[in-house]
Amino acid sequence: MDLLHKKIYFIGGKGGVGKSTSSAAFASYLSSLHKKVLLVSTDPAHNTGDLFHLNSNGELTSIYKNLDFIEIDSERESKRYIDEVKNNLRGLVKATMVEEVHRQIELAASTPGAEEAALFDRLSSIIIEEVKNYDAIVFDTAPTGHTIRLLTLPQLMGVWMDGMLERRKQVNEKNFHRWMDDGESRTDPIYEKLQVRRRKFSSVRKYLLDSNLTEYIFVLNAERLPILETRKAMDMLKRHEINVKTLFVNKLIPEDADGMFMEKRKANEQIYRKEIERVFPEARKVMLPMLESDIATLAHLRRFTTYLQEGLENIKNQIDSH
Ligand SMILES: Nc1ncnc2c1ncn2[C@@H]1O[C@H](COP(=O)(O)OP(=O)(O)OP(=O)(O)O)[C@@H](O)[C@H]1O
Ligand SMILES: [Mg+2]
Repeated sequence: MDLLHKKIYFIGGKGGVGKSTSSAAFASYLSSLHKKVLLVSTDPAHNTGDLFHLNSNGELTSIYKNLDFIEIDSERESKRYIDEVKNNLRGLVKATMVEEVHRQIELAASTPGAEEAALFDRLSSIIIEEVKNYDAIVFDTAPTGHTIRLLTLPQLMGVWMDGMLERRKQVNEKNFHRWMDDGESRTDPIYEKLQVRRRKFSSVRKYLLDSNLTEYIFVLNAERLPILETRKAMDMLKRHEINVKTLFVNKLIPEDADGMFMEKRKANEQIYRKEIERVFPEARKVMLPMLESDIATLAHLRRFTTYLQEGLENIKNQIDSH
């Protein structure tokens, strides 16, 4: 099945629907197919680390033989990014201008979107550096709104970068020497650095827009709000040339759940199951049951992974019979 042969997976969806749990299970499942897998958590809440009882602290950590894990913290990344920019400028800017330039950078860092930009920068580095070291990279993302901004950023970023490059060129032509140490070189080092970053983003963008390489999976529950929000998010991504073709429908009431209350819940859920079929005709749906308890231990996760495997086999049969 093509779903299992991608290089990059983004798992998104509304808050609390089961993104972290599904990402962990999906990554474990891929690694059980003898693939070398990297699970990346970009979620500030970091349930994934808790699940594996790990704190990756921003470093690559091994979970199993074929499964590594890394957590990205947007606040930490933002700080790292700013420090890097400051470092890049060290020695390039006249000593008398350093304070002013740093003030400008701090100001830029507090503008909306700066944290996402830093997060995206790190995410891009992970893709570029690790895509050759792993068969698959699975990104567990933060709730919908945030994720969409992140995923559409490469395009926004392209526009933004072009603007920066253009402005930089004009500055160069005018008063480049007022800002710079009067070195020998005739090219503007900041312009060069921006160019490098521009190339990095555009190569990542190629990965993210190539449906042979990257798969976007949305997790949702059979409830009104997750359905509405997922549809909105998918339409938004479509406008950015990203097609979501796979849904994980999680926390479904198991067939064998009994009692009057459960019967009523099941009847209610049936309405939303139909709604999901109607609202997402283009997507394949992997159905996942609700377990009796939270998925908080490795034993629970293994059980959930078995259900995920079954769900994946079911859609394979569906697709094959088409
Ligand atoms: N199929 C399931 N059966 C039982 N509990 C589940 C199931 N899927 C997820 N859970 C539980 O639901 C809660 C939310 O799951 P999870 O953390 O994976 O969601 P999330 O979408 O990553 O949330 P957030 O938006 O906060 O990142 C957790 O307590 C998890 O153990
Ligand atoms: Mg999560």
